[in-house]
Amino acid sequence: MIELKNITKKYDEFIAVNNLNLSVEKGEIFGFIGPNGAGKTTTIKMMGGILAPTAGTVVIAGVRMDENPEKAKSKIGFIPDRPYLYEKLTGMEFLRFTADLYNVDEKAFFRKAEEKLSLFSLTDWPDELIEAYSHGMKQRLIMAAALIHDPEVIIVDEPTVGLDPAAVKMLKELFKQLAAEGVTIFMSTHTLKVAEDICGRIGIIRKGELIAAGTTEDLKRESHITDADLEQVFLSLTEEG
Ligand SMILES: Nc1ncnc2c1ncn2[C@@H]1O[C@H](COP(=O)(O)OP(=O)(O)O)[C@@H](O)[C@H]1O
Ligand SMILES: [Mg+2]
Repeated sequence: MIELKNITKKYDEFIAVNNLNLSVEKGEIFGFIGPNGAGKTTTIKMMGGILAPTAGTVVIAGVRMDENPEKAKSKIGFIPDRPYLYEKLTGMEFLRFTADLYNVDEKAFFRKAEEKLSLFSLTDWPDELIEAYSHGMKQRLIMAAALIHDPEVIIVDEPTVGLDPAAVKMLKELFKQLAAEGVTIFMSTHTLKVAEDICGRIGIIRKGELIAAGTTEDLKRESHITDADLEQVFLSLTEEG
């Protein structure tokens, strides 16, 4: 459902992502972990069609991002690490704005908006200005907007940063449920526990290179640490030298 073929990104001479190959199957939750500056956000932006790769190809649900970006992007719900909200809009107006970007038709919109507002516990505040929303409500609205067109693929950069434990739990349950319905989820995270709890496979990126990918069990085996938890595996695989 998501395919990265020999993806490289250079910022001038600096290689942020180096010849990365990865494929994520339909209904899979793939976790992307790595130290700060490893290239997670750069990879995710290329996957979402926000940044053009220096070399290589991104294919989403069989559609090449470089050849048909609109079609490829229409299949994606994208949640960036630093989302932008128009604070002078109401929650409902923001959902409408996002739905229009994705060509969700008028009739479907009201049904979907109601469904997403309910899913993210925002039903009582659709007509409040976003600037009056709490931090948590803003985060939930961003999710609601990203899912307004019922995307086949969700790409999300560090979704649990700034969420309280209840919101993290809700998000994990939601992702598991969506994956069970056939949605493909690619998420970067700092929180190894979250990755371990919900991701079928995990990829570890270090200095722009994918150094390991597999189930938690595969990674443990690869790190040659018996009785390791994911944190030890991560530290062992990403340590210098
Ligand atoms: N726009 C940019 N221009 C130059 N260098 C960048 C830019 N964006 C990111 N980088 C560099 O690329 C590397 C990977 O960054 P990033 O993808 O944000 O990593 P991560 O999300 O894993 O923390 C870092 O060394 C970062 O400093
Ligand atoms: Mg990042």
